Amino acid sequence: MVAYQADNISNKTMKKFEEQKFNLGELKGISAKNIEEHLKLYGGYVKNANLILEKIPEYEGQANEDTFASYVTSELHRRFSFEYNGMRNHEIYFESLSEGPKPFGGPTLKHAIEAEWGSFDKWLNRFQTLALTRGVGWAMLWYDKKDQRLLSSWVDEQQLGQLQGCAPILALDMWEHAYVYDYPTSEKKKYIEAFFENLNWEIIEGNFAKAI
Ligand SMILES: [Fe+2]
Repeated sequence: MVAYQADNISNKTMKKFEEQKFNLGELKGISAKNIEEHLKLYGGYVKNANLILEKIPEYEGQANEDTFASYVTSELHRRFSFEYNGMRNHEIYFESLSEGPKPFGGPTLKHAIEAEWGSFDKWLNRFQTLALTRGVGWAMLWYDKKDQRLLSSWVDEQQLGQLQGCAPILALDMWEHAYVYDYPTSEKKKYIEAFFENLNWEIIEGNFAKAI
């Protein structure tokens, strides 16, 4: 097997993503054990996003002459969006559960939700239904910067379904690892309800304020 050498210049200048710390207290309906295991998974996304960026220069220099190196380079690029979006989605998820629960601090986001869906409760009902989509993935609330409106949508794995040009405002992790220590898969609705009981809406409003 060919030994591939890292591009020294690229690696010396490469910035690393930092694993974020979250101020998570005791949560209602989501156990410390589940959070502990989930944070380890988040750390894996950060580590692997860094690893991919580190490894790409090792292979891309050979990609024109070597089919295997070309194949590896392509797959590393293809997997980067899975790791990167996984890292960022988890940061939004854990931030929204930090220092909470807290109600809305101001009217801006609540009014934007009401303008799009008629009332907060109508949005909540539809969002919770969205979160019950079969399969693993994410229920997301976005701000569409181009049309200046809120959207909710499902994201399968993180590389599939992230809405281009939209800022994530709220991210509900519906991979089974997010609740498997607390609820069987047939009772994931209880996990969704627990998630909403713990939310810090001031942080979510902060995401919206940055987006607009
Ligand atoms: Fe997760």
